[in-house]
Amino acid sequence: MNAAHHPAITVGAAPSATPPHTAPLHLASQFVIFGLTGDLARKKLLPALYALLAAGLLPDSTHIVGVTRRAVTTDDILSPLRDNPAYDPPTLDRLASIIHMFQMDLTETSDYAKLRAFLDAQEAKYGQCFHRLLYLSMPPQVFGPVVDALAASGLTAGCPHTTGQSRLLIEKPFGYDLASAEELSHRISAAFEEDQIFRIDHYLAKDTVQNILAFRFHNPFFQAAWDRQHVARIIVTSSETIGVEGRAAFYESTGALRDVIQNHQLQLLALATMETPASLSADDVHAAKLALLSDITPPTADTVSDIAIRGQYATYRAEVDNPHSATETFAAIRLAIDNPRWHGVPVILATGKHLAEKTTHITFQFKGHEANQLTLRLEPNEGIEFDIMVKEPGLTNAVHPAALDFHYDTHFAAPHPDAYQRILLDAMLGDRTLFVTSAETIQSWRIIDPIVGEWAKTATDLVQYTPGTPIDQLCTLAG
Ligand code: BG6
Repeated sequence: MNAAHHPAITVGAAPSATPPHTAPLHLASQFVIFGLTGDLARKKLLPALYALLAAGLLPDSTHIVGVTRRAVTTDDILSPLRDNPAYDPPTLDRLASIIHMFQMDLTETSDYAKLRAFLDAQEAKYGQCFHRLLYLSMPPQVFGPVVDALAASGLTAGCPHTTGQSRLLIEKPFGYDLASAEELSHRISAAFEEDQIFRIDHYLAKDTVQNILAFRFHNPFFQAAWDRQHVARIIVTSSETIGVEGRAAFYESTGALRDVIQNHQLQLLALATMETPASLSADDVHAAKLALLSDITPPTADTVSDIAIRGQYATYRAEVDNPHSATETFAAIRLAIDNPRWHGVPVILATGKHLAEKTTHITFQFKGHEANQLTLRLEPNEGIEFDIMVKEPGLTNAVHPAALDFHYDTHFAAPHPDAYQRILLDAMLGDRTLFVTSAETIQSWRIIDPIVGEWAKTATDLVQYTPGTPIDQLCTLAG
């Protein structure tokens, strides 16, 4: 048990907050988006940039450099948004005016020098330095070589005139096991300082995920019950109704454990169970999450079959055209947090595709009555449910569970912004709080790696399930 990480908690003492994100930016940014024609850019990045622009949150002279392999125009890039009546034409015109396309071959060293000259020229033209936000929206196989080439061409150094910083924005997956994650991490660290690296886990940028901290640290009553004396079990559930959606090649080499548990679910668990950070600064939040992840005892080869189960939806093999595929589309694992607060409280992480319901939530089951539980609903139907026991009306002493239920959408008029707005805004501000550090990623792989290793040996335990099965029916782990 690692007690050193855990100073006593002062109940009700919320960590001091960082300033709100409405402060004006002192320096504009150039988003350099590698892969602007890709799926992520189309579905998430361009809509988020549009929303920030419409909300007045992009400082003047923000620029977007769209790096593509083929010759593509700004009109091509924006045409799906132009066809959608939800996007207002004058704002799209403003967006178009700040997008500059840059065609290059990522395997060609001299093209990186040209890109650098292009960025320098932009800065010279506007007479100021920009932060250069190098967003790798590309397949993970090219992360390493592209990062090497960025470093070799000096693109890691930032705007040469004054204070502009180069920042690397990188999407998961960070490696496919512990060894490859360590290798990638060393490679990136050789090129960029840690404070230049923004490892994205889009779950952290979801509004309701940030509410985990607000809920924990502004409700002393629950804070007092946040421990092994009161909590019997913690369950993190991410159930999806969609299948692999045309991502067969990616998913075949990934599976549910790597795709969701290794990153999103361990991050959710860390936020929900870490000690109170000294403040809500990036460093303090990262340190608290890392301490929690370090307190999770990784399974051993001998315990994997007891603590991890997997399944595959019945139509998956035909969908990915691999009759022998052993890739899991459902996974659940049971972990133990070996620290004074949580020792002995089982933690279940469960996720899967093609299940009955789309839901991501965290449930704390309290000791005493099994119906007495608290559920933080992260998405959809965002809110919080506290199930309590009440006396049934009438001349009886029978008690029943009843829900105290908070729904975001009926309580607040404002909708939740998409996570990518927050990601892009925080990257401009240089605020790394909602990004993942290298140490957290590696620690998460240490927890997952023994399961990856055992599952690679044989798949006799892989259960086939009918699409549309409820996740609770599949999640048969005891504990
Ligand atoms: C991604 C996974 O990280 O998260 C996908 O690669 C998954 O497989 C997605 O569908 C779920 O994200 P969200 O925000 O829809 O819950």
